[in-house]
Amino acid sequence: MIYSKVIGIGSFVPEKVLTNDELCGMVDTSDEWITSRTGIKERRIAGAGLTTSDIAAYAAKKAIKLSGLNNNDIDLVIAGTITPDMIFPSTSCIVQEKLGLKNAAAFDVSAGCSGFIYGLSIADSFIKSGKYKNVLVIGADLLSRITDYNDRATCVLFGDGGGAVVLTANSENSRGILSTHMHSEGGHDSILMLRAGGSLMPATHKTVDSGEHYIKMKGSELFKYAVNFLKDVAEEAIRFNALKPEDIDLFVPHQANIRIIEATAKKLHFPMEKVFVNVEKYGNTSSGSIPIALNEAYESGRLKEGNIVLIDAIGAGLTWASAIIRW
Ligand code: UT7
Repeated sequence: MIYSKVIGIGSFVPEKVLTNDELCGMVDTSDEWITSRTGIKERRIAGAGLTTSDIAAYAAKKAIKLSGLNNNDIDLVIAGTITPDMIFPSTSCIVQEKLGLKNAAAFDVSAGCSGFIYGLSIADSFIKSGKYKNVLVIGADLLSRITDYNDRATCVLFGDGGGAVVLTANSENSRGILSTHMHSEGGHDSILMLRAGGSLMPATHKTVDSGEHYIKMKGSELFKYAVNFLKDVAEEAIRFNALKPEDIDLFVPHQANIRIIEATAKKLHFPMEKVFVNVEKYGNTSSGSIPIALNEAYESGRLKEGNIVLIDAIGAGLTWASAIIRW
C-alpha cells in the first residue's frame, strides 16, 4: 500500500491589509456588525500587479524548499482556484513555468472553497495508484478581483491569499493522508455564483455595467448548508477511519465565518481549543483558506508530527470535502 505524506507546506498573503473600519468608509456597515456576524476583523488585498499564479508560486516555492525536493522532482501540479489568472491556460501551467517544474503535468480544479481539498484528494489518488510520486497541491484565490465593493453583503467577507503542500509517496502509513471524501450537489447556482465571462454569458459592456462579473451570494441560505454539510463530511471521515472525535488532535475547518466554525465544532463535540481559527485576520480566501490555516498551525507549533488533523470545506457548486491526515 502506498500513502501520501506531506513533506512541505507554505503559504502567502499580500501585505496590504483592509480593515473593517476602512470598509465602513466604502459601504454602509460597521465593525460591530462584521465582527459579531462573521468574526472577521481584517483581510488582505493584492496590489494591482499581483496575480493568483504569483500568490500560488510564492506559497509553492516555500513548500518545495521545506520538502527538500528539487524542482525537477515534482511530477504533478494541481491548483484549486476560482480566480485563475485567465480562463486558459491554467494557473497551474503558469506556476509550473514560473517555478521551472519541467517534469510536471499541471491542471486546475474548480470546486469553489473546496478546491484545495479536492486537489488533495486527486493527488492522493494519483500517488496511491503509483502514477505520480511527488505532487504539488495548491489552493489560491484572489477574491478581491471578483468582489463588488458596493455590495456590503459580500465585500466584508472576502480576502486574497494561498497555500501549498508537497505530497510524496510513502510505503508506511505512520504519516500521511488517511482518507479524503468529496461531495457535490449542483443546482445551487442562485446561492453562490459568478454568472458572466463564460459560455453562458460572454463578457459584454452590458455584463460589466450590470455587475455580472462579481460574486453573487445568498449568505443566510448558504450558512445552513455549510453547517450541516461540514458536520456530515467530518463525521463521515471520522467514521471511515474508525476514530472517535476525541482522537482528532486539531480540526482545521474552512475559514468563512466564525459562527459557522463554532456551530460545526459544537455539533461535532470538538472543544474550541482543538479548532484552528484565523478568519479574523484574512476573511474567506476560498481555496486559500485551508492551506493558509494549515501552514499557520504548523509554523506556530499547533500541528506537530504524528498529530491527527481533520480538514473540511464547502464552496460553490455546491461542493464539500474533508480529509484526515496523520501529520
Ligand atoms: O465559503 C463558502 C461561502 N460562504 C459562506 O459560507 C458564507 C455563509 N454565510 C454567512 O457567513 C452569513 O450568512 C453572512 C455573514 C454572509 C450574513 O450573516 P447573516 O447573519 O446570515 O445575515 P443576513 O444575510 O441574514 O442579513 C441580516 C441583516 C440584513 O438586514 P435586514 O434585512 O435584516 O434589515 C442585511 O441587509 O444584515 C444586513 N447586512 C449588513 N449590515 C451591516 C448584510 N450585510 C451587512 C453588512 N453590514 N456588511
